[in-house]
Amino acid sequence: MSFYTRVHTRGVKSIITERLAKEFAVPESGILLGYGAEDLLKQAVACFLGAGEKLMIPSYSWWYYKEIASEVGGVNIEYPLIKGKDTFSYDIDGMMKVYERERPRVVFISSPNNPTGNAMSPEEMDDLLRVLKDVPVVFDEAYWYNSQRLQVRRLLEEYPNILIVRTFSKYYALAGLRIGFAFVGEGLKKLEKMSHRYLGFNRLSEEVAVAALDSPDYYARVADQMRCDKELYYRDLGSLPGCTVYRSEANFILVEIPNAIKSPLKDHCMKRGIVLKFMDEPLLNSHIRITLGTGEQNRLVINAIQEFFG
Ligand SMILES: Cc1ncc(COP(=O)(O)O)c(C=O)c1O
Repeated sequence: MSFYTRVHTRGVKSIITERLAKEFAVPESGILLGYGAEDLLKQAVACFLGAGEKLMIPSYSWWYYKEIASEVGGVNIEYPLIKGKDTFSYDIDGMMKVYERERPRVVFISSPNNPTGNAMSPEEMDDLLRVLKDVPVVFDEAYWYNSQRLQVRRLLEEYPNILIVRTFSKYYALAGLRIGFAFVGEGLKKLEKMSHRYLGFNRLSEEVAVAALDSPDYYARVADQMRCDKELYYRDLGSLPGCTVYRSEANFILVEIPNAIKSPLKDHCMKRGIVLKFMDEPLLNSHIRITLGTGEQNRLVINAIQEFFG
């Protein structure tokens, strides 16, 4: 560890970019690394957004989306999401209208979106990207999972203005590792150049990330378990009076509850040693965002909430 990794003598940036290039069948030079997905989003904003310029973000979003433009003196423009009976979805026409009207410098799309859990379908991505041609479009796929692997190459080939950001924090449950990676389109060379680490990345976290990629069976089992547990949440909490459990493509679910029970339910759970994220944002203030745990933990959470309702 007292020397740089020197993988560049083989013509690659790191062992993890080399590995990801093979996994996704894309050129290694087009894979960027960051200190988590957070850092890659920051890099994109620092590279493409200037003071007074507009960043287009979803109205329901991870709180940091609302902060990031301000780091470079930029401003936020929000686009709508459609709130359905038990699912949120992207409003592609609405997004196009906001784009045409506001002409933002950078567009963020989170798929699956935090905290609403919905993802953008490949057809919707195509419809949108055919219109959003002259702007860097950042797909934050922090909550990605393996079945999305084939899309990457096709999208990069068809749309040179996209950046697809992913991380080992969520699906691989390695948030403390702080490794995010991104696939950068040919049209975003400025970012590729800015992001380059000439002396290599972090060999220790790279080794752990490679070990995670080497364990697809383990992670597939976890994903299966999560799929089953999400069904339990939909069924058992979705049937409680006044509650809606939104369909989620991620490792968390969003539950809407009657506002009046927010505080007593929080106390009830706390007394049982269960700490849940009761949201307190303008659009989401009667909601709990529950990150899935083990099968046993999920049962415990569901039982505690059911018990509250009697
Ligand atoms: C939508 C979204 N993107 C990115 C991140 C950050 O991921 P990382 O841990 O890789 O920085 C989060 C974390 O909550 C998130 O919700």
